[in-house]
Amino acid sequence: MRNIATLKTDSIKTGTIKTVTIGNITLRNNLIAAPMAGISDLPFRHLCHRFGAGMTVAEMFLANPDVWHTEKSSLRISSSADIGVRAVQIVGSDPSEMAKAAELNAKHGAELIDINMGCPAKKVNKKLAGSALMQYPDLVRDILLHVVKAVDIPVTLKIRTGWDSTHKNCLEIAQIAEECGIKAVTIHGRTRECLFRGEAEYESIKKVKEAITIPVIANGDIDSPEKAKEVFQYTNCDGIMVARAAEGRPWIFEEIAFYLQHGFAKRSKTVDEIEQIVMEHLDALYQFYGEYKGLRIARKHINWYTNQYVNSDQFRRLFSVLDNTSDQIQTLKAFFNQIRNNQ
Ligand SMILES: Cc1cc2nc3c(=O)[nH]c(=O)nc-3n(C[C@H](O)[C@H](O)[C@H](O)COP(=O)(O)O)c2cc1C
Repeated sequence: MRNIATLKTDSIKTGTIKTVTIGNITLRNNLIAAPMAGISDLPFRHLCHRFGAGMTVAEMFLANPDVWHTEKSSLRISSSADIGVRAVQIVGSDPSEMAKAAELNAKHGAELIDINMGCPAKKVNKKLAGSALMQYPDLVRDILLHVVKAVDIPVTLKIRTGWDSTHKNCLEIAQIAEECGIKAVTIHGRTRECLFRGEAEYESIKKVKEAITIPVIANGDIDSPEKAKEVFQYTNCDGIMVARAAEGRPWIFEEIAFYLQHGFAKRSKTVDEIEQIVMEHLDALYQFYGEYKGLRIARKHINWYTNQYVNSDQFRRLFSVLDNTSDQIQTLKAFFNQIRNNQ
């Protein structure tokens, strides 16, 4: 199930692109692929790595040991099949459980532990985990101290700007993080109250960057090379993290790297190149999850890959009900042939 050796592991040249050092790890560049539950699985992380991400972060791993035996947890745990820096994110609210979850992942080969204090999901926040923790700085401190003490690999923290517009305390939390030995802080420029609405703001991130000495990673709405450059310049951040813009476009990292290096856009991928990436992704999903689950997970990725093409709605409707892998492959090939013929 986990053999995804068919994915290539070539990497882009980083040239003058800046790196960032997190604890004892220097990334090959400062462009990070975000953790996204249900998306940033091993096949997706491989693609982001291949197309230039300096680090990819795995989907959140629940600290609650009652769920460690589930298939979901076992697929999310750190794995030797990962390439690049093996970064695992943990989520929870009990300091001892969080420490144990970090230990478990380190034992399985994780090279970096990220702590999730940004998730806005109700089912997570109800248990005082994710972004809800930002309301309780003492508990934040307790969790961070426990996790940092439990492992000898770098521990990082991912937060939002605060719980809501009247409680924007990312600066306070970032300072606590620095005091506790956290090696980098990622900030999504929205409060929990915003969820994903409105536009991310970078002023709070800039203020945190001015106040602490550990690396600050800016996140939120970075969806193009130009935007990446603006965020770097405005916040003076040490790195950026991209989430949704990499869906169906895992090559955005090499596009950003190229633009930052040369000041003009990299040539767009051809239909042939995109088809090849999509086919490899599909195959990796079938291998990683098995065919039953793999083909279902493939549907959302194929939606993202194909929605850039005009008049592709009908294809997606058709694709969404296919329930065997050979039909998926044949239908996709026909789709790309049609795109080529219409060019
Ligand atoms: C489907 C989805 C799943 C996500 N899962 C996680 C997660 O597991 N852990 C986390 O810290 N953030 C998670 N996020 C938040 C992203 O990492 C990121 O902070 C957010 O999407 C803002 O970045 P963007 O504007 O580049 O998408 C998720 C976001 C999405 C859209």
